[in-house]
Amino acid sequence: MNTIKIGLFGLGVVGQGIYRVIGRATNAHAEIKRICVRNIDKPRDLVIDPALLTDNADDILLDPEINLVVEVVDDAEASYRIVTGALRRGIPVVSGNKAMIARHLPELIEMQRRYDTALLYDASSCGSIPVIRNLEEYYDNDLLLEVKGILNGSSNYILSRVFDHDEDYADALRRAQKLGFAESDPSFDIEGYDSLFKLIIITVHALGVYVAPEQVFTYGISSISDFDIRYAREKRMKIKLVAQVVKVADDRFTMFVMPEFVSPSKYIYSVDDEYNGVVIRGECYDRQFMFGKGAGSLPTASSILSDVMARRHGYRYEYKKMDYLNLPSYTTDVMLKIYLRYPDEQFLSAIPFASVSEKFVSGTASYVMGEILLSDLIAHRELLRAPGVFVANIPRFFLNLDD
Ligand code: HSE
Repeated sequence: MNTIKIGLFGLGVVGQGIYRVIGRATNAHAEIKRICVRNIDKPRDLVIDPALLTDNADDILLDPEINLVVEVVDDAEASYRIVTGALRRGIPVVSGNKAMIARHLPELIEMQRRYDTALLYDASSCGSIPVIRNLEEYYDNDLLLEVKGILNGSSNYILSRVFDHDEDYADALRRAQKLGFAESDPSFDIEGYDSLFKLIIITVHALGVYVAPEQVFTYGISSISDFDIRYAREKRMKIKLVAQVVKVADDRFTMFVMPEFVSPSKYIYSVDDEYNGVVIRGECYDRQFMFGKGAGSLPTASSILSDVMARRHGYRYEYKKMDYLNLPSYTTDVMLKIYLRYPDEQFLSAIPFASVSEKFVSGTASYVMGEILLSDLIAHRELLRAPGVFVANIPRFFLNLDD
């Protein structure tokens, strides 16, 4: 088999990891032929032959020897141009850009078919955990009920430091950035969008259905307060940022990203720091759990290497589930139970709870717990970003099957 000659786009945290990992992986028979960066002269820790570097994408896309593009640039628009430019030329691509993939997946699937080439992106979701290829290949049947987990390393790192080590939220965020876990705009991590993009991709491979990111309720951890943390501790729980796609009937599923109260009996309770954990639930086999590093240079690079090696064997996603006759449809007509910390009674009266089971009012903070439709949470999502507000999910699906 011929050597894979890689054109690499991006030499940031993940790109440098790829450079190191490919250099060590003799069985991959892969070499990096050219690296396209925005700024060739930028000082880098990595010792690298300057002849490898270019700032002209065509030096890769028009090089007939390059037979695989690996794309790990930070900017989603640049990523889109690179990936579609390569696919249009029939060059297979390995990408880690979840924002770009989640927004353009239907078009990218169509392009893979039209140009008879492949786009692999296991690194886009959960770093080193091989969640996409497993969902695509192993869980190719009707039994899948739920995929749920911690999909963002940075927010989990922050919550772990705050919960278990009493550290300050802002310090923990700074450290997540310094350690190379966080996105260049960390609001993607802490506001839940990074988890959302991964969930969109996971849902395509789990259920064969694409849901556009704007349609999904997404709430992050940025407004969590000491009050919420104390409340969770008193109940012997942790608060984790959880993304989930859940079958609520044979023909319907729902999905959302939200902080969640997690009890010690759950697998994800012990998923700390930058680790991710994914629970896959199905009829007949109940729960399975995948755990691993979800962010960082080498863990993510390891997943890229796995996709590079998969290309040696001509692997591509077939998206078989998207052609199934009976695809479930996405619904937001689902009753959830939530904890809402709210600033004043006027705010509370604007939130259409179906029922309230617990209410606490004090000079410091007030909260209610109650049932609310997911569609109503979506309708009020801007309001829920007001100061003094925090929302967390109280799990209610499959409780009869757990513990
Ligand atoms: N910022 C992401 C995270 C990187 O923290 O999980 C890995 O996708």
